[in-house]
Amino acid sequence: MGREREIDFLHRDIISINDFSKDEIVYVLESAKAFEHMRKPILKDSVLGVLFFEPSTRTRLSFESAMAQLGGKTIGFADPLVSSSTKGESLLDTVKIVSGYCDAIVIRHPLEGSARLAAEASEIPVINGGDGANQHPTQTLLDLYTIKKCQGRISGLNIAMVGDLKYGRTVHSLACALSKFGCRLYFVSPESLKIPKHIIDDLQNSETEYSEHKEVGEVIKECDIVYMTRIQKERFPDPAEYERIAHTYAIEKDVFREAKPTMKIMHPLPRVSEIPKDIDDSEHAYYFEQAANGLVVRKALLALILGGVK
Ligand code: CP
Repeated sequence: MGREREIDFLHRDIISINDFSKDEIVYVLESAKAFEHMRKPILKDSVLGVLFFEPSTRTRLSFESAMAQLGGKTIGFADPLVSSSTKGESLLDTVKIVSGYCDAIVIRHPLEGSARLAAEASEIPVINGGDGANQHPTQTLLDLYTIKKCQGRISGLNIAMVGDLKYGRTVHSLACALSKFGCRLYFVSPESLKIPKHIIDDLQNSETEYSEHKEVGEVIKECDIVYMTRIQKERFPDPAEYERIAHTYAIEKDVFREAKPTMKIMHPLPRVSEIPKDIDDSEHAYYFEQAANGLVVRKALLALILGGVK
């Protein structure tokens, strides 16, 4: 039996990238290629519930656009203040109710583990659109798609992750995924925002080569990808600590003088000050293409989960 027939995303939850094998990830990335310019009503009878308890531009709007381009519908909220959670309704009750109205749910919530809890309460597939500082698996799939697109491969690349590695859920998901592809990882952060120990433990278990650094200049010559991140203001318990660190991790054009010509800068966005605007027209800048890939990958995922791909 071929790999395509063994892998089945129909009605599956997407909670953590760790729930997926390398073959399953590659299958999603390969499926996504067919969705680059695809606008066919293959999900015309499907409804996606979009429950966003935290702000979002890219994740929510690309899911909504993906459904619209495939002929489906979305219902939901972008702000929990307009939901009955303000009257005291629990997350699990909300999910249980919405699962009676839709065919799948995408949820973003500040609580780590909330998406897994939601999936347990739901009768329909749940997609994690970001649970606190924990995971953002659909971002990881679009990041991997982007890496493959700009470098021609994922396996064996040298990838630096820079900035807030403690609270940045995108780097937690991405580091775990890259460990399946034999990538060499460089973690560049202030001491107080280092990558969490549980991620390091996972990397050691998978024998992934990694090192930790204070400055991106220490590793720039080696890098195929520099993955910048925002300092996650909303997750700091102490605002004074955020202010102390906030603007210390801006990348400067000068640092790229030693970079490979093919090196690309990625960022899940939004950015604040960590990538100055004068870098946007550099041949290394690739973050807007990355954001655009979110639509392609989310169309593919929705089609796989909701049965639009036979
Ligand atoms: N990358 C990302 O998750 O962006 P949003 O917060 O705008 O959804």
